[in-house]
Amino acid sequence: MNERVEAALNDQISKEASSSQYYLAMASWAENNGLNGTSKFMYVHSDEERFHMLKLVKFVNERGGKALIPAISQPPTEFDNLKSVFELLLKHEISVTESINNLVDICLQEKDYTTHNFVQWYVSEQLEEEALARTILDKLKLIGDDNGGMYMFDRDLEASVLAAPTAATDTKK
Ligand code: FEO
Repeated sequence: MNERVEAALNDQISKEASSSQYYLAMASWAENNGLNGTSKFMYVHSDEERFHMLKLVKFVNERGGKALIPAISQPPTEFDNLKSVFELLLKHEISVTESINNLVDICLQEKDYTTHNFVQWYVSEQLEEEALARTILDKLKLIGDDNGGMYMFDRDLEASVLAAPTAATDTKK
C-alpha cells in the first residue's frame, strides 16, 4: 500500500476513534442531565463513529497495510448546555470533513484510485452528518430558552433514533 495513503488512513482511524469518544462523553453528560433522547442519539452516534473507524482498520489491513490502533485521549466531561453540545458536534464534523477531503486529495495525488473509491462512502457520510447537525441546531435556535420546547425536542430526538437504522443494523453500510 502507498505509504502516504496508509499514513493518511491511519490518521483518519485516529480521528474516527476520537469522534466516538467525544460523542460518548456527550451521551454520558446528557444522560446525567435528564436529556434521555439526546443521550440515546449520542450513544448511537458514538457507535457509528466506532463503525467508521473499524471500516478503515479492515480496509488498511486487507490492502496489505498496517492499521494502527490509536491511544484514547480524555474527551471533555462537562458541557454548557444542549445548544453548545450540538454546536460542538457540528464544529467537530466540519473538521472531520476537512480531514476526509484531505484524504481524497492524497489518493488523487498518489493515483490510488481504489482507496479513492473506498473513501467516497465517507464523503457522502460527512454530507449527511453535517446536514443533520445543522437541522438540529436550527430547531434549537427556534426553541431558544423555552423549557417545554426543549422537552419536546429531546423526546422527538429519541423517537428519531428509535426509527432510524443504525450502522449496526443498516446492511447498506
Ligand atoms: Fe465519522 Fe462523524 O465522522
